[in-house]
Amino acid sequence: MSEQYRHILVTGGCGFIGSNFVHYVVREHPEVHVTVLDKLTYAGNPENIASLPSSSVELVVGDICDVKLVDELVSGSDAVVHYAAESHNDNSICDPSPFVLTNVQGTFCLLEACRRHGVRFHHVSTDEVYGDLALDDPARFTEESPYRPSSPYSSTKAASDMLVRAWARTYDILVTISNCSNNYGPYQHIEKFIPRQITNVLCGIRPKLYGDGRNVRDWIHTDDHSRAVWKILTCGQAGETYLIGADGERSNIDVLREILTVMGRPEDEFDWVRDRPGHDRRYAIDSAKLRRELGWKPIYTDFSQGLARTIAWYSEHGQWWRDSKDATEKKYASQGQ
Ligand code: NAD
Ligand code: DAU
Repeated sequence: MSEQYRHILVTGGCGFIGSNFVHYVVREHPEVHVTVLDKLTYAGNPENIASLPSSSVELVVGDICDVKLVDELVSGSDAVVHYAAESHNDNSICDPSPFVLTNVQGTFCLLEACRRHGVRFHHVSTDEVYGDLALDDPARFTEESPYRPSSPYSSTKAASDMLVRAWARTYDILVTISNCSNNYGPYQHIEKFIPRQITNVLCGIRPKLYGDGRNVRDWIHTDDHSRAVWKILTCGQAGETYLIGADGERSNIDVLREILTVMGRPEDEFDWVRDRPGHDRRYAIDSAKLRRELGWKPIYTDFSQGLARTIAWYSEHGQWWRDSKDATEKKYASQGQ
C-alpha cells in the first residue's frame, strides 16, 4: 500500500510518538522518504531520529504555524501525518497559550496547505477529547462518543479535530483522524507519568502520585500506535475517525507499584501529592472499528513485559534525560506536585 505515499511529511517527528513513528516507517517501509517538521520545543529532541539514514529522513526545524514554510513542505509531499502538538496536561493548566497556538492555529495552517495542494492528511489525536468515564462505568469510548474535553490541552485537541472534520466535509480534502489512548515506550519526555517515576527512582527521588491514585489510563505501546497510524494512513476510509487502544486499563497506583517492584524498591516508597485540577478519572478505548475494518490488532499485549523494557531503556539512556531532570522536577515542585 505504501506505493501510494513515497514522500511523507511528519510533523512533531522529534517528539515521543512522532519519533517512534519515524523509526517505524524507516524500519518497515524503507522505500518511503520522511521529512520531519519540528520546532524543537522543550519536548522535541533531534537525537531521537539522529541514528536514521539521511537518505530516508530529513529534519526541517520550523513551526507548523509558519504559513510559508508549511506551504512549501506540504506541496512537496504525498501525505502529511500530523503529530506536532503541545501535549502535556499539567503544562496546559499553567499556561494554555502555546496549546491554542500550536494545536489549533498550527492544525489550521496545515489543513489550509493540504487544501491548496490536494494532499492527504492524517490527524493524530487523543482519547481525551471524549472527557472521562467513571471508575465503575462498564462503558468505553467509541467513535460515536460525544466530545467532552476537560483540560485546556484536550479542548485544543478537540478543537483541532473539529477543524479537520469541517475541512473534510466542506473542502473534500482526504483526511482521517485517529484518537489514541496513553502511550508508553522509549523517548517519552520525563514530565510524563511513567518516565517521571522511573527516572525519580533512578535519581533517588521518591515517586509522586496525584490525588488518590485510582485514576485509570488505558496503556498502549507506542509501536502498536505507529502500526495503527500507518494502517489508517494507507488503508483507512477518507473522512473517517478510528479509535486506537490495546485494552490496557490500569490504575495509576498499580502502575507505580509495579515500577517500584521491578526496580527493587518497596511498593509503598512514594509520595502522595496535590491532585491535578479537573483530573480526568478514567479513559478506556473500544478499538473494535479499527480491528474489524482494517484488521489491526496490538502486538505488545503484555504490559508488564513492555513496562520492564521501558524501565531498562531509561536505565540505559541516562544521557538522553539527565539534563532535563532538574528543571522538570523544579517545575513540578513549584506546583506542589
Ligand atoms: P511530545 O510532546 O513528546 O512531542 C511533540 C513534538 O511536537 C515535539 O517534538 C515538539 O518539538 C513538536 N512541536 C511542538 N510545537 C510545535 C510547533 N508549533 N511546530 C512544530 N513542531 C512542534 O508529544 P507526544 O506525546 O509524542 O504526542 C504526539 C501527538 O500524539 C500529539 O498530537 C498528541 O496529542 C498525540 N497523542 C499523544 C498521546 C500520548 O500518550 N502521549 C496519546 C494520544 C495522542
Ligand atoms: O490519553 C492520551 C493522553 O495521555 C495524551 O493525549 C497526552 O498527550 C498524554 O500526555 C497523556 O495524558 P495524561 O494526562 O493521561 O498523561 P500523564 O503522563 O501526564 O499522566 C498519566 C496519569 O498519571 C494521570 O492520571 C496523572 C497521573 N500522574 C502524572 C504525573 C506526571 C501522577 O499521578 N503523577 C505524576 O507525577
